[in-house]
Amino acid sequence: MKCPIEEDMSHEMPTRKGDNKKMSKKHRLKSMSMEEFSDRYVRPDIPTRCKWMLHDEENNKADPHHHIKFDPMPPKIMPNILHNIGRTPLVKLNVIPREFGVKCEVLVKCEFFNAGGSVKDRIGYRMVLEAEKDGKIKPGDILIEPTSGNTGIGIALAAAVKGYKCIIVMPEKMSSEKVNVLRALGAEIVRTPNAASFDSPESHIGVAQRLNHELKNSIILDQYRNPGNPLAHYDGTAEEILYQCDDKVDMLVASAGTGGTITGLSRKLKERVPDIEIVGVDPLGSILAEPESINESDVTFYEVEGIGYDFIPTVLDRKDVDSWVKTHDKDSLLMSRNLIRKEGLLCGGSCGATVWAAMQSAKKLREDQRCVVILADSVRNYMTKFLDDDWMAERDFIKHDISPGEEEWWWSHKMTALDLQTPLTVVPQMKCQSAIDIMNKETFDQLPVVNEGGYVLGMVTLGNLMGKMVSGKITPESTVSECIYDQFKKVSLSSSLYELSRVLDRDYFALVVHCQKLYSDLNKSSEKQIIFGIVTRMDLLNYITKNHPDVNKDKESDGMTTENECPAHRANKTEAAK
Ligand SMILES: Cc1ncc(COP(=O)(O)O)c(C=O)c1O
Repeated sequence: MKCPIEEDMSHEMPTRKGDNKKMSKKHRLKSMSMEEFSDRYVRPDIPTRCKWMLHDEENNKADPHHHIKFDPMPPKIMPNILHNIGRTPLVKLNVIPREFGVKCEVLVKCEFFNAGGSVKDRIGYRMVLEAEKDGKIKPGDILIEPTSGNTGIGIALAAAVKGYKCIIVMPEKMSSEKVNVLRALGAEIVRTPNAASFDSPESHIGVAQRLNHELKNSIILDQYRNPGNPLAHYDGTAEEILYQCDDKVDMLVASAGTGGTITGLSRKLKERVPDIEIVGVDPLGSILAEPESINESDVTFYEVEGIGYDFIPTVLDRKDVDSWVKTHDKDSLLMSRNLIRKEGLLCGGSCGATVWAAMQSAKKLREDQRCVVILADSVRNYMTKFLDDDWMAERDFIKHDISPGEEEWWWSHKMTALDLQTPLTVVPQMKCQSAIDIMNKETFDQLPVVNEGGYVLGMVTLGNLMGKMVSGKITPESTVSECIYDQFKKVSLSSSLYELSRVLDRDYFALVVHCQKLYSDLNKSSEKQIIFGIVTRMDLLNYITKNHPDVNKDKESDGMTTENECPAHRANKTEAAK
């Protein structure tokens, strides 16, 4: 059989032989011109050269790949923890399908039982095994990987057990839980901006390739192009599903990031179960789904981690996917909570997206049919994210439960009650030194960064400037665009002070924004956010203390009136005076 998957990693930057000095703790990248970067950049989206064709035995005979035989029985004693990757449980959903009116049997493949907690342990380990077999790596070498985190954990786990060094390059959006696990496994972490396009030098892929170029004895295993990615699922996950289902499976639903999971699964399952339907899951804001028209949306950012991209990775062969479902953060994360609450499955955010999509697609299946859904990772990665009520409420995914009589007098007051000053804004090209001078002069700790079109790009904060200046990542001459903080919270003018207080429980400030619709054509509009102000803990505290009923009572008994009284109290007093 010809290769079921992409052929080789011909792009791979060669591992340079020679000295294998201890890797420095922090990597500062040398500057590289755009031309130099473009000449060296290895695209993660070049079309696959794989010749595999469904049901073409003759063509598929010339398979260039090494396959690993599936063994359903685990060893009684494992030589190391890497042997506890795979053989994950397949579990029936009992409540959720009923609630969605789904009649068929729905089984979930619980990948969070893998040793490192996700489906990506399979490919991390597999890519390391293949590189070892081909003599590409030896203990002590540096494995660099651009990843949304889970592949990083898979590789770092293999690296810890087998004695490799590991650098993981991941976008800022990915959870601190993943970062902490990676650090504990001994990996170094490099973070990159969320907004960087995949082919820019600042993206996680661009930065990983620049590091690979600079560091001796380093290699990028490259999940976007490495045949070991889909092969891990072709040889492993798919065989397990077929074994667990005795080859009876009518639909498979899997989310796509690199697409390695769905491509590898689809190829093996379709070889053995020709009528199976393969459903891909892609979040709004990503472009992996087909037809292209379903990808159109105003969404530019989504919270669910690990799925979706702004390019089509080489290992994703969309011909292997029969239909796609687009998903939304709110449905996905509420479903993840339901999977935990109603089915006892301690899974992550993309699992909610996948099960939500399965509930849409499996409605057409009969009672005697079976749908298998891949649950990619564990809630462990998201303890401070979708598991946290405040995090969910800040994003309007849930409303806080407030029992009647529990409210404080100021909770329902709106942001408009606060005396907010219009903030100073700066442009991204401003030098850091100038931003520090402005902060000094105006006694501000943070300044919004706004581009020429008036769009809010993020904040430059004292904390961020300090952190980056101290670690040498920026100099006074750097531009503020190099230290933009984009994880800040936003509230609107109609937000209540209660909502604000929940945000300020964890953040020192929030940006008060107002949305404006901008028409560029009769049928084309976009939303622009105008900055109304910055609100800090001190603003809220001042409002509560100055308008507090007890303070006002004291002042009244002293015969004084309060200057900064809140309208509600003024109204209450007038009523009382009548
Ligand atoms: C949580 C999560 N779900 C789904 C996926 C998608 O898997 P794949 O990259 O094989 O498409 C990933 C990939 O990193 C992931 O981390």
